[in-house]
Amino acid sequence: MDLEQIEKTHSAEQPEATFAPSLATTSKKVFVKTYGCQMNVYDSQRMTDALAADGYAGTESIEDADLVLLNTCHIREKAAEKVYSELGRMRGLKAERAARGQEMVIGVAGCVAQAEGREILRREKAVDLVIGPQTYHRLPDALRRARGGEKVVETEYAIEDKFEHLPKPRRAEIIGRGVTAFLTVQEGCDKFCTFCVVPYTRGSEVSRPVAQIVAEAEKLADAGVRELTLLGQNVNAWHGEGPDGGEWGLGRLLYRLAEIPGIARLRYTTSHPRDMDDELIEAHRDLPALMPYLHLPVQAGSDRILKAMNRRHKAADYVRLIERIRAARPDMAMSGDFIVGFPGESDADFEATMQIVRDVGYAQAYSFKYSPRPGTPGADMKDHVAEAVKDERLQRLQALLNEQMRDFNAGMAGRTMDLLIEKPGRDQGQRVGRSPWLQPVIVDETAGEIGDIINVRITRAGHSLFAEPV
Ligand code: 5AD
Ligand code: SF4
Repeated sequence: MDLEQIEKTHSAEQPEATFAPSLATTSKKVFVKTYGCQMNVYDSQRMTDALAADGYAGTESIEDADLVLLNTCHIREKAAEKVYSELGRMRGLKAERAARGQEMVIGVAGCVAQAEGREILRREKAVDLVIGPQTYHRLPDALRRARGGEKVVETEYAIEDKFEHLPKPRRAEIIGRGVTAFLTVQEGCDKFCTFCVVPYTRGSEVSRPVAQIVAEAEKLADAGVRELTLLGQNVNAWHGEGPDGGEWGLGRLLYRLAEIPGIARLRYTTSHPRDMDDELIEAHRDLPALMPYLHLPVQAGSDRILKAMNRRHKAADYVRLIERIRAARPDMAMSGDFIVGFPGESDADFEATMQIVRDVGYAQAYSFKYSPRPGTPGADMKDHVAEAVKDERLQRLQALLNEQMRDFNAGMAGRTMDLLIEKPGRDQGQRVGRSPWLQPVIVDETAGEIGDIINVRITRAGHSLFAEPV
């Protein structure tokens, strides 16, 4: 991953990605750089779609860009500060382009835009446009104003639904984006964990209607997508009115999406333990398409810290919940997020986090040092933990998690499983597939075409997994 390599993160966070939609019919170019979670990856795609309609083609080269958009993340201080160093670099590029008589509009989108708004314009004069995640459907208009010389700030929460107003992804644009896709079904959060900025940057919880989600999923399937990952900051809190007039939860929605021809695999992320209801657990029992891999963050193992974090469950509730999920789907692999050094965390509290990791056993995990975020209750709490103590705890936790992840991968040797062939491999003659547990697996290109699901046996499980068709 990228963002905070030192902390070996992810979860939420994806490698920084750029996009280059292949509509080369115009002279204007946009460079989009994405930080943060999968939600931002999805949003970057939708913004790129909206801009394509306005005549912007994607470019991988920032020097050639008439428009640069940074889609930013505010989750930890380091993520947010990165944006300003990047903007500083862009100031120079903008001046070089101006000297050649070329335009470079600089836009800041995403969660830093939402959280800091006008402050960004004050700190970095090269920025022309600041646009928050709830207002992306206004991007083309905001861009026109920015190109006219106005400094534009669009961070007011829109009353209208941005999903309704963003242009629908067009087929030509979806094709070529691969056989796996993200689909945002829910955005925002009402949980107010005391460490977290999300309720402030993404607003309160909003679920997209069933019909809109099904239509988008069908369109993706039609464009060759085989694996859909439903996204939401609190995805398992998704709810909506079904075509039968009844209230649906995420479990019910998954049953419906599993019926779409072409969609062979379903995933969802990120979930809160409080919202894993019975129907969702039953979906894991009943739907072979629902992959046996669940990202269910617990953050900490001490009841005292869980309470201070306002997680509203105890450590034992979480462990019991996972037992129920594994009873429904015995091959379920767990993934989680952890925070060390939350205010007031004692040695004993931290040991409880180590213990819950041992009790659950994770296939994948992301761990972070607590980073006080302005405006959140945690930032104003007493007894902040010394940085050196956070460092030491993070190191110990990551050693344990890394050991579990290594064991999980090593345990794959000799096993047979279905593989979705996803893309060409790094070496010639190879392809990379995805296991049900999200692991990249390398096969010979003769094993199948991209988009095929093949049955394989793992022949080698070291740093990478290798497999042969059975
Ligand atoms: N400090 C450190 N980690 C945080 N996360 C969220 N807020 C903070 C913070 N203030 C972590 C949580 C969350 C993941 C996306 O990022 O573990 O699940
Ligand atoms: Fe970062 Fe959260 Fe915004 Fe995603 S929603 S970009 S994790 S602050």
